[in-house]
Amino acid sequence: MHIRKAVILAGGSGTRLHPVTRATNKHLLPIYDQPAIFHAIDKLVDAGITRIMIVTGPDHLDDFAHVLGSGQHWKPKYGKEKQIQITYGIQNKPNGIAQGLFIAKEYVNEEPCVLYLGDNYIEDDLEPYIKNFKDGATVFLTRVKDPERFGIATIGKDGTVLSIEEKPKKPKTDLAVAGIYLYDETVFAKMADQKPSVRGEYEITYVNNKYIKERKLRAVMLKKEWFDVGTFDSLLEVSQHVKNKRGKTKR
Ligand code: DAU
Repeated sequence: MHIRKAVILAGGSGTRLHPVTRATNKHLLPIYDQPAIFHAIDKLVDAGITRIMIVTGPDHLDDFAHVLGSGQHWKPKYGKEKQIQITYGIQNKPNGIAQGLFIAKEYVNEEPCVLYLGDNYIEDDLEPYIKNFKDGATVFLTRVKDPERFGIATIGKDGTVLSIEEKPKKPKTDLAVAGIYLYDETVFAKMADQKPSVRGEYEITYVNNKYIKERKLRAVMLKKEWFDVGTFDSLLEVSQHVKNKRGKTKR
């Protein structure tokens, strides 16, 4: 089944990017010559996604509407529609990634969906996974030097995820869960009894652990570049990376 719908989370407080993020949202800051969120949308559209809900806080919602509109800047990869459809969901407070996704429950409407954390920049092609998605859930893993900052996975020989710990003090591996997830229609039911974590957030790791219990969480290793653009240094690094790439392949 080819997944049609994606939810991009573009909320959060962006405190590590103050004072810049007092003026606008982190996901609208430039990665080289485009707002960061363009990379997320491009990646999803390149994979055949045609329906996207952007979930963000109330503060800079109008900025997103100005920049992205209803999706008129993107043409679907397949089919006859003139443009993709972008719509918006509001998360009043950044109380966690699972809460952000839950806002899109009615929109997703019992279809499978992609959850994309808007501060992730990846280069792997998502289409094979989005096109051949069956059931359960899929996460994408990447090796990191600072595993205590991420969701960290252990995996079995067949690629099934055995455990994920959110920001562990003593990480079991260096396999970080990137901010792109494919979920079947059972994802929202898995949040029904969820409580906030010790740090006060509705964690996506809780939801993923429910799939693990059913032995339905698959892992795919990312092969290409991955960045999490949450700091000035990482924004600079990914901008430089994109600029170098542009130099090689003229747009
Ligand atoms: O980047 C991958 C990591 O993302 C995963 O390894 C972790 O398991 C996952 O919890 C997440 O960790 P972070 O600490 O990086 O999450 P952060 O709070 O930075 O938020 C990630 C994105 O989601 C960012 O684009 C802002 C958005 N967000 C976050 C929260 C908490 C929302 O839109 N609403 C929220 O309530």
